[in-house]
Amino acid sequence: MSFLLLDGRATARALAPALRARVAALPRKPGLTVVIVGEDPASQVYVKTKGRRATANGFRSDTHRLPADTPQATLEALIDQLNADDGVDGILVQMPLPRHIDSAAVLSRILPEKDVDGFHVINSGLLAQGCPALVPCTPLGVMRMLARYELDLTGLEAVVLGRSNIVGRPMAMLLEQANATVTVCHSRTRNAADHLRRADLIVAAVGRPHFVTADMVKEGAIVVDVGINRLDDGSLVGDVDFEGVKDKCRAITPVPGGVGPMTIAMLMENTVTATERRQG
Ligand code: GUN
Repeated sequence: MSFLLLDGRATARALAPALRARVAALPRKPGLTVVIVGEDPASQVYVKTKGRRATANGFRSDTHRLPADTPQATLEALIDQLNADDGVDGILVQMPLPRHIDSAAVLSRILPEKDVDGFHVINSGLLAQGCPALVPCTPLGVMRMLARYELDLTGLEAVVLGRSNIVGRPMAMLLEQANATVTVCHSRTRNAADHLRRADLIVAAVGRPHFVTADMVKEGAIVVDVGINRLDDGSLVGDVDFEGVKDKCRAITPVPGGVGPMTIAMLMENTVTATERRQG
């Protein structure tokens, strides 16, 4: 079967002019502040990319780098300071945080209207009820990409692999709101492969290299790979065995160049949305 390559870089590029027009219509630059705690190398790369993209889009961009042993109270005091700063429209705390930090408490300290990650309980509650304010960037990016390629999800059997608050849970909600029938598989699911074989749409977000293989994929399925796994040889691979799976698919995302660029694009959109709302 010839497959459609879902190109995240091209999709993100196509969205850029509309975003720039929204930025130009604002009375002042959007301000995005990123907070990173510790030295996790992958997180350092993501944060640098987010900062660079924000600057390229004409935002004010700041990054606070805190040591891995930063106490909870210090991190929360920084969030309070950013909440009170009128020049800060969006606050992003890079996940994961070190083990000694209560991540839920930190995320819920961010003002919901500045929560450009959409991780605050208020924003996830609004999403659960179908009236989203700020939606998590990765699942939002997946939906925008599927829409751009005019893939109608109505009535599809969708299987989401992973139940994180960052991807799996909000992804399941968005797919259900797009009229798919959604199954969420996780580490305790008895036989994920059986669920996957029935799926018209798979979204893989488990962080296990090449977890999804050809024998688990139905002919004609749409496959979205959220995984970014670095192998010992330094190469980046997804949660899906792209080479093995692609010829069975109607459409598939590559890694890299699939969901990743869409996550960043949606962070930029959420920051502009937050700025527009804060300016009334
Ligand atoms: N870690 C992995 N993905 C994300 C994300 O989208 N936002 C934040 N803040 N941390 C992450």
